[in-house]
Amino acid sequence: MRTQVGIIGAGPAGLMLSHLLHQRGIESVVIDLRSREDIEETIKAGVLEQGTVDLMTQTGVGDRLHRDGFVHHGFNIAFSGEQHRINLYDLTGGRTVTVYAQHEVLKDLIAKRLADGGDVRFGVTDTSVEGLETEHPTVRFAHDGEQHTLDCDFVAGCDGSRTFTRFLIPEGEIRTDFFRQYPFAWFGILAEAAPSSDELIYAHSERGFALISTRSPSVQRLYFQCDPDTDPDDWSESRIWEEIEARVAGAGATIKTGSIFKKDILQFRSFVCEPMQYGRLYLAGDAAHTVPPTGAKGLNLAVADVHALDRALGAYFEAKDDGLLESYTRTVLKRVWRAQHFSWWMTSMLHRFSDATDFDVRRQIAELEMVTGSPSAAKTIADNYVGLPLT
Ligand code: DHB
Repeated sequence: MRTQVGIIGAGPAGLMLSHLLHQRGIESVVIDLRSREDIEETIKAGVLEQGTVDLMTQTGVGDRLHRDGFVHHGFNIAFSGEQHRINLYDLTGGRTVTVYAQHEVLKDLIAKRLADGGDVRFGVTDTSVEGLETEHPTVRFAHDGEQHTLDCDFVAGCDGSRTFTRFLIPEGEIRTDFFRQYPFAWFGILAEAAPSSDELIYAHSERGFALISTRSPSVQRLYFQCDPDTDPDDWSESRIWEEIEARVAGAGATIKTGSIFKKDILQFRSFVCEPMQYGRLYLAGDAAHTVPPTGAKGLNLAVADVHALDRALGAYFEAKDDGLLESYTRTVLKRVWRAQHFSWWMTSMLHRFSDATDFDVRRQIAELEMVTGSPSAAKTIADNYVGLPLT
């Protein structure tokens, strides 16, 4: 088999890259270890930046998003018994976010790739990559009981935080020590219930952080800060609802409870590798960087990476210009580090650290008063939340 770009991983980065390349006439093959059902059903975050929405709309994968997604013009921060609204729309000159689950984005991209005749293979095994230092790297894999060798011009490593492609870069050629582990996690639930709020609520409380999000008029997504070792089975429905209620109590929000049909624990890490490329290999998305979930930047960063990679590959195939490929890492890391700072900032401002002193808590409150009370500070949070334009 022969293709121009071998893409390893059918998550947001890999599928969007394949879709964007197809739009400019560049061929790719996408492979993934997971089944299509697994990819289409795994619950992840659900907030799309304005730039992600615009890109999906412009490239013909925005129909369902516009029909079923919810445009949010603002979000709320609750602390010290009050809610404060960040008016995203006004503060950013008309930009918004859209609540639309990541696995729905993946369903849309998979459907479009297949409708456009794209080659996407699920459930592959025994993947290996060779020749990254040459002009024709190869990807070997097994699929449906057959061995395949894919000759490519480039390989894109889009295989998420459990990446193997990052480990193809020789030690000494890559730094992997930009890492921070946080001493807490999020307990996430999906519940059959009516929305508790028209807009998201990020709540700071003595019992720890809580986030009221949504998915649809009848399904809600909520999270609360927990110990990383928490076993979801130790938490009954009533205990979960009581805990969330206690955390938002006094901030003017009434939680509408309902039957909980999914519970998960999200780990908190910040990670970046540098560079994000080696020979003919380019990494994108979680294979190269991870953010803690606060602010929902993960999928949006993956989309921004492949937006840049698509343009770089386009310049190479269309004009034999490898300037954008050479500067790929430098280009995307600017945004990656901006998002790293924002996710860390939101996390550290809103969560209860186990070793926090009264001084630390008062300092957090002062910071929350600043971001909700000062128009320039509120604009900083709003600009970052809706996301920088894709340039
Ligand atoms: C969601 C996740 C986030 O990390 C966030 O900051 C906001 C919303 C969500 O899954 O709905």
